[in-house]
Amino acid sequence: MRVDVVSIFPEYFTPLDLSLIGRARANGVLRLAVHDLRGWTHDVHRTVDDTPYGGGPGMVMRPEPWGAALDALAPAEPTPDGPTPDGPTLPRLLVPSPAGEPFTQAMAHELAGESHLLFACGRYEGIDQRVLDHAATRMRVTEVSLGDYVLFGGEVAVLVILEAVTRLLPGVLGNAGSLDEESHAHGLLEAPMYTKPAAWRGHEVPEVLRSGDHGRIARWRRDEALARTATRRPDMFAALDPASLDKRDRAALDRAGFQAPPGHVAK
Ligand code: ADE
Repeated sequence: MRVDVVSIFPEYFTPLDLSLIGRARANGVLRLAVHDLRGWTHDVHRTVDDTPYGGGPGMVMRPEPWGAALDALAPAEPTPDGPTPDGPTLPRLLVPSPAGEPFTQAMAHELAGESHLLFACGRYEGIDQRVLDHAATRMRVTEVSLGDYVLFGGEVAVLVILEAVTRLLPGVLGNAGSLDEESHAHGLLEAPMYTKPAAWRGHEVPEVLRSGDHGRIARWRRDEALARTATRRPDMFAALDPASLDKRDRAALDRAGFQAPPGHVAK
């Protein structure tokens, strides 16, 4: 996957040399380039912002440097990489913003299927809206929010999104099976995990996990996942497909004091 990031703080992205993302870059699974937006300014102060029309506090990012950056990184002509036989030539533009669509594991999977992502990191009060409106006339544009809080800018959001997406790329995780069991994989939080020693500071690892009985272990993990989800994330619990809950799931929820969403009961 090719990824371009435009920011006025390229130094923010040095952690992307580390760990598994660093390895994905080294082995070519992730081809990442970080660009300084000020490289597309032409005045002596390398200005990227100005006061907002209509008044109000803060500054807004001017459209000209952004327009030039997007023209350079998403040219109308096919890129040197060439058009892919079954995919669009132009990247998918992602603009982190507290006003964007919520970023979820489902969106991470969707983005992992793209061949080229282009991130535009806004600062201050954001980017002049015309940049996004114009970009949307020629490529797919998604404003994306990490959550219901406000950051100084999009850089940290890009680090988060890239980490979530990169680990889904083929060949990045040693054990891809773990993707199927982790939190959010099936609309449930993951059960708690333990390692050695079996007893630590008076706390024991649940007996079932030491039993070697894979059937009982799978059942225990599912029960824990259901109870955890119901307790911690009522929103996820309410969104569960009732048909995905069998009689044993419903009994486990009942024991934990929760009412399973009504509907058809799976066998
Ligand atoms: N930029 C500022 N706040 C943000 C948020 N919550 N998510 C994504 N980008 C942001």
